[in-house]
Amino acid sequence: AIPPWVVSLDDYEGLAKERVEAGVWAYLCGASGDEATLAENREAFGRIKLSPRIFRDLSSASTALTLFGREYAHPIFIAPTAFHRMFHPEGELATVLGASAMESCLTVSTSASTGIEDIVSQATVPPWFQLYIQPDRGFTAELVKRVEAAGCGALVVTADAPLSGLRNREQRAMFRVPAGIEAVNLRGMKAVPPSDRVFGSELLASVPVWKDLEWLRSLTGLPVILKGVIDPEDAVIAADEGVSGIVVSNHGGRTLDTVPAAIEVLPRIADRLEGALPLLMDGGIRRGTDILKALALGASAVMVGRPVIHGLAAAGATGVAHVLKILRTELEIAIALTGRATLKEVDRSVIW
Ligand code: FNR
Repeated sequence: AIPPWVVSLDDYEGLAKERVEAGVWAYLCGASGDEATLAENREAFGRIKLSPRIFRDLSSASTALTLFGREYAHPIFIAPTAFHRMFHPEGELATVLGASAMESCLTVSTSASTGIEDIVSQATVPPWFQLYIQPDRGFTAELVKRVEAAGCGALVVTADAPLSGLRNREQRAMFRVPAGIEAVNLRGMKAVPPSDRVFGSELLASVPVWKDLEWLRSLTGLPVILKGVIDPEDAVIAADEGVSGIVVSNHGGRTLDTVPAAIEVLPRIADRLEGALPLLMDGGIRRGTDILKALALGASAVMVGRPVIHGLAAAGATGVAHVLKILRTELEIAIALTGRATLKEVDRSVIW
């Protein structure tokens, strides 16, 4: 049961911590290096102030939006995170049920611990699939066809983690993925041998480049969304390459440390692209006011990572749904108190 004192996403974090083993908790919370970017993702939101507006007509208020040709009830999407069965025995099946209850779109990780077909079959909103382009390109192509056939709504290609960041918190806790939990959708893939070396390794020799994105787009009719863009120059290249959308993200601080907060770079990328593509953002969203700030600064929608896992670990599908419900309610209140009736009216004048 969820105790009555759990009313915010931070409360959910406290509840989840009591229910997750220490090594797994370090994996979930941790980020790379000194975790400077992790902290900055939150602090940057704190520096942005909102401007309240009064006496406006809110009788037709709505958070609905259209994205990549589909209608969504609200702009709160679930970021891809690996191995949900580490946090709850029902894993991604619980997450997708919670998401569906709140009309939210789940992005399923390449490293999901449940088969993609089983996840999609439980969804009322077609999930997106997050793809890491694998060293085994033949397997990657088959996987793309498989997720499209399963009914996924979009392909989210993560570009910022060709190598994992060094996550010291995780290393100190000696975290290992527990026995019996694996990336089941990658079964049968030819993996590169593990190596202590970075430079000169087989992994580094096979990191994806822009040409691989073009190849990927030729394989699928799904919208291809590029996740992990921070430098505005990369956003311009991505738009020229013909991607359908971009997720402005620093991977929750888990890859390169000391990069700026996603919310700080979002308006710069929006200025460069001038509406050429829909932008999403993730990193540090913990309040409805954070979502409103992201929408005001150029995002069409946001993704939420760790808090959804806090809900999952605390109470399975119910916890996931409750986390999304809290965010949705907070967002509606924040939009209303800034005097906007629709997301189209949310522009930079919402920011103080
Ligand atoms: C991630 N993230 C991630 N991203 C991705 O593209 N594929 C993945 O498999 C994962 N796995 C993953 C596991 C865990 C435990 C975390 C915390 C994060 C990054 C994720 O999609 C997202 O960018 C961040 O989590 C967003 O930041 P917040 O919302 O956690 O602050």
